[in-house]
Amino acid sequence: MKNYKNEQIIIIDFGGQYSQLIARKVREKGVFSEVVSYDGALGKVKDRLAKGIDIKGIIFTGGPNSVNASDSPSIETDIFELGIPVLGICYGMQLMAKLLGGTVEKATVSEYGKTAVTLGRSVLFDGVSGDKIAYMSHTDFVSAVPNGFQVTSSSNDCAITSMEDVEKKLYGVQFHPEVTHTEFSEAFFENFVVKVCGASQSWQMKNFTESMMSEVKEKIGDGKVLCALSGGVDSSVVAAMLSQAIGKQLTCVFVNHGLLRKNEYEEVCGIFGSSDMNFVAVDVSERFYQKLSGVTDPEKKRKIIGEEFIRVFEEEAKKIGAVDFLAQGTIYPDIIESGAAGGAVIKSHHNVGGLPDVVDFKDLVEPLRDLFKDEVRKVGLELGLPEHLVYRQPFPGPGLGVRIIGDITEEKVHILQEADAIYRQEIANFGMEREISQYFAVLTNTRAVGVKGDFRTYDYGVVLRAVSTLDFMTAEAVKLPWELLEKATSRILGEVSGVGRVMYDMTSKPPGTIEFE
Ligand code: XMP
Repeated sequence: MKNYKNEQIIIIDFGGQYSQLIARKVREKGVFSEVVSYDGALGKVKDRLAKGIDIKGIIFTGGPNSVNASDSPSIETDIFELGIPVLGICYGMQLMAKLLGGTVEKATVSEYGKTAVTLGRSVLFDGVSGDKIAYMSHTDFVSAVPNGFQVTSSSNDCAITSMEDVEKKLYGVQFHPEVTHTEFSEAFFENFVVKVCGASQSWQMKNFTESMMSEVKEKIGDGKVLCALSGGVDSSVVAAMLSQAIGKQLTCVFVNHGLLRKNEYEEVCGIFGSSDMNFVAVDVSERFYQKLSGVTDPEKKRKIIGEEFIRVFEEEAKKIGAVDFLAQGTIYPDIIESGAAGGAVIKSHHNVGGLPDVVDFKDLVEPLRDLFKDEVRKVGLELGLPEHLVYRQPFPGPGLGVRIIGDITEEKVHILQEADAIYRQEIANFGMEREISQYFAVLTNTRAVGVKGDFRTYDYGVVLRAVSTLDFMTAEAVKLPWELLEKATSRILGEVSGVGRVMYDMTSKPPGTIEFE
């Protein structure tokens, strides 16, 4: 185990919505953190300790259940005996209270949203005092703390909003300190990480980049590596890192499936083609259009695009010859999401994650698999990638294929590329690129009657979408300025032939998803 991960805080997940956010908050404070399921969590903690990993703290997340229900998620009480600080958040606090002899009851008044809390004395509240706003989302509450615990804060409707047993290093909070609405979030995590856990805060992207470069060098030796480059942030960072680590042993392959955004093929070729890395760009748009001809079912489209991508990739790997390793831009949320086994398949995501089963590589190289997106961006800057590339918004593997409702034709791709480019330009003109997590246009298969000049038109509807999200698991529609929407709408209607209506999508995720298909 490399030293950059040697000091950890483990997040034990009881099904909370904000588990990843907690991990990110801890990492922002300079400590590596991982989310593990509550099931078998004690064993996982002990395994890590046996491997010499210095576990500085444990955090129990919130969750949708009641600790009083018979089948609610729980954990062995031995977890409190390890001498490692434990912080329980919401359900996590209730579970801690219940397991240690306190009581939890259902409240008559649920607290939801921003709530005033009167903070008492606790190391967790160092530097903050008095009445502060915290984010609440609960019905059950701790009505009596276990022996040895002190109550450290309260709200109007809840007498115990935090508790602690300092001697045993056990802490519980009913509110969600990880959510930005909690106005002392920063101080809270700093206090927990440094003052309670005593962490040295060595998880820094500079250390990570250096360690990871030597780790991949060691793994690859003098082997050849093929990197599937999409021009997106993750694969670009992998390419830059490997190029610096192993130079010409690396070949990057960029496939144009004909579903890229306007000028994207040229832009990506411009950036990487002029670098000194081995870069191969293949334009196989025609082939994709043929395979997709007449296909309307979203899942079928996704499968065809994914499979065809693999075929092209295989062909390129054969041309290079004797490629041992496949490098891909897998990041930590990809692993957590795919690890959430048992859930329904909402969409079969296509990225290069499907490749190893098909192409015969000796091994995978996934240097970013421990990182969150914002950490990947920091590594990208560390490696000297240009800011406009590092801060690009995510673009799905199947590209515009999942943004054209109904069958895909070259003509429709062209219409969408033009509309999307205008929308993106206007977002940039209003200086909003960085504050919106993802924004794009969608071409519907609905046409509407209109009039242009003296003529009747019957053209497609385009939907504009803009969402803000932290983790892409949930998302909110962004309240774009009306002037921006007006400008984009009038330009699209005026400049793109084939579009007769422009609409704005107000749907959040859930119940929607970010993409349309
Ligand atoms: P959804 O539409 O599932 O999207 O809410 C969540 C995030 O994932 C991106 N996305 C994909 N990324 N391959 C990818 O690499 C895919 O097949 C894929 N489908 C969706 C989407 O753009 C959003 O950022």
